[in-house]
Amino acid sequence: MRIGVFDSGIGGLSVLKPLLEARFFDEVVYYGDTARVPYGVKDKETIVRFSLEALEFFEPFNLDMLIIACNTVSAYALRELRARTKMPIFGVIDAGVSAVSKTLQNKNDEILIIATQATIKSKRYQNLLEKLGFSHIKALSTGLFVPMVEEGIFEGKIVESAFEYYFSSLQSKPKALILGCTHFPLLAKSLQEYFGEDILLIHSGQALADQLERKFHLKRKNKKTKVSYYASSDIKKLKEKAKIWLKH
Ligand code: DGL
Repeated sequence: MRIGVFDSGIGGLSVLKPLLEARFFDEVVYYGDTARVPYGVKDKETIVRFSLEALEFFEPFNLDMLIIACNTVSAYALRELRARTKMPIFGVIDAGVSAVSKTLQNKNDEILIIATQATIKSKRYQNLLEKLGFSHIKALSTGLFVPMVEEGIFEGKIVESAFEYYFSSLQSKPKALILGCTHFPLLAKSLQEYFGEDILLIHSGQALADQLERKFHLKRKNKKTKVSYYASSDIKKLKEKAKIWLKH
């Protein structure tokens, strides 16, 4: 089985990680649109156009499935992508939401979604959660976390200041925190420390790996998954980041 993983840049490595750890697939083709990242501050038309161009990139690879690691693309372009191909396409948002609903027993539990500006604006997470009956949903666009993580800053003073900046006005402590952006799982340890051990962190990429396992009855293979990396610019940087992110 050969699958594709698409992201706006390097962030999708956090979704690639659980997929590689699970060893479900023979081969993964990773493509990051590093020349045009970030998508999270762009408008819907641009996000859809870039995503359709990425689909063209994947065409020669004859993939069995395409995974959209980027939350922003998952929020805006799934319908348009699916309309252009017969290949199954899975985004991270549905998986993240179903992980929340499996874990939280009480529909009144407070859920905080953190994501890019575009993802929050799309209301995709919020609407899906509301449909499931959750009534206490807060959504915060925490755009500064993206460049911070790209700089390799996962903990310490800068992270603490950014947390204060975004979270100090929260009136109550959420029960669950959705990491609605590819970069945020790298802040998981710091977020857990900030909010406390009892907050439930939802990693949509991990949730997607779990969902695919259940849906396709995937079994762990004996050999490691082969990965080929592609980027629209600076492939060297992507490969260097992969060494760090896949370990983290
Ligand atoms: N990959 C994006 C996401 O998960 C974050 C980076 C960007 O803004 O392109 O939303």
